[in-house]
Amino acid sequence: MVAAVAGCPQTACDYHGVMQVDLRESWWIGEVEVPTRLVLAPMAGVSVQAFRRQGRRFGAGLVCSEMVSCAGIEHRNEKTLGYLRVASDEHPLAIQIFGSDPAVMGEAARMVAAAGADIVDINFGCPVRKVTKTGAGATLLEQPELACRIVAAVAEAVDIPVSVKMRRGLHDGSRDCLTVGPLLVEAGAASLTLHPRSARQMYTGTADHSLTAELVSRVDVPVVASGDITSRARAQTVLALTGAAAVMVGRGAQGNPWALREIVDGDVEGPSREEVVAELVLFVRETVRELGERRASGFLKKFYGWYLGRGRFPRPFKQELVVLDATEEVVERLLLAAPGALPLIEALEAELPSGDEVTLALPISVYGGG
Ligand SMILES: Cc1cc2nc3c(=O)[nH]c(=O)nc-3n(C[C@H](O)[C@H](O)[C@H](O)COP(=O)(O)O)c2cc1C
Repeated sequence: MVAAVAGCPQTACDYHGVMQVDLRESWWIGEVEVPTRLVLAPMAGVSVQAFRRQGRRFGAGLVCSEMVSCAGIEHRNEKTLGYLRVASDEHPLAIQIFGSDPAVMGEAARMVAAAGADIVDINFGCPVRKVTKTGAGATLLEQPELACRIVAAVAEAVDIPVSVKMRRGLHDGSRDCLTVGPLLVEAGAASLTLHPRSARQMYTGTADHSLTAELVSRVDVPVVASGDITSRARAQTVLALTGAAAVMVGRGAQGNPWALREIVDGDVEGPSREEVVAELVLFVRETVRELGERRASGFLKKFYGWYLGRGRFPRPFKQELVVLDATEEVVERLLLAAPGALPLIEALEAELPSGDEVTLALPISVYGGG
């Protein structure tokens, strides 16, 4: 699998002396054009279709599903297959798979491609025990030979580009990503994403992007920098100092798509209350359509705090919403708090693609961790 090299298109200098990168510039993963240098992170329990669509609307050039179990795909688990649901306004979209058996991963990749994904992403970063104890996720960084066989099997199975997302290694201070990364490229990876924390660190400490810079210098495919990117200033600094093709944003975008706009366009104006409510209501409605009312009502509770916090609404308001069982009641309560959101919601809903854009002709619907 070949890839165009992204390099570091430095176009101007800013006031801090850091070279400015145009985040609205496109780059390539194999033959897939990614229109901006911002990627929305895969997050288990978060990256539902509504999250990905919203990410695209707010400036992410590439969005990704949460990690999907290749065993679940192999056994045609209905809930797992639901993760392979692709909407027409998500492209370009990567679907991420995890597992440790090359043949099963290859088969899962075929299903991912058939579902309409533009890229298949392989998870070599998940630090969660439930996954690592099966030999998948970050543990594969200590088994480079098997990791390469997995990448080769996946690249062989599909015509779409294969990307890999990884941590720096399993243990604190590990530099395994620097030796494994180039081998994965040789095996067929068209792009690498590095979250330079160890698996043991989980999400503590900070992401050490000096490793990202080193990885960039060792491979001739685009590298995406993941970890602690929460602002345009930070994105510019990491892009300029590492030469990465793009930055990936995860936690910073939870309940806060406006962060994506700030990063891509420098638009610092925060949302009005009406805009917050409009985005949240749309998110609720879309997620109910995707997961069904029963799963969605529990799943959505964490999003209420994410959207309504940051000083946007008084704290007790969130407490009021999380105790409501029916999402329709949540929507009613939100609209009561910001009636001016209604025309905004109508405008947003009018822009959604009509009809059912699901391309997978299979029973549908999943959640892991990473
Ligand atoms: C709740 C949560 C779930 C995650 N799930 C995944 C996942 O399924 N696959 C994956 O590769 N990374 C996963 N990650 C890691 C993120 O993609 C990202 O690399 C990490 O959060 C660092 O970026 P951030 O500082 O912008 O959040 C997850 C992170 C969080 C917080």
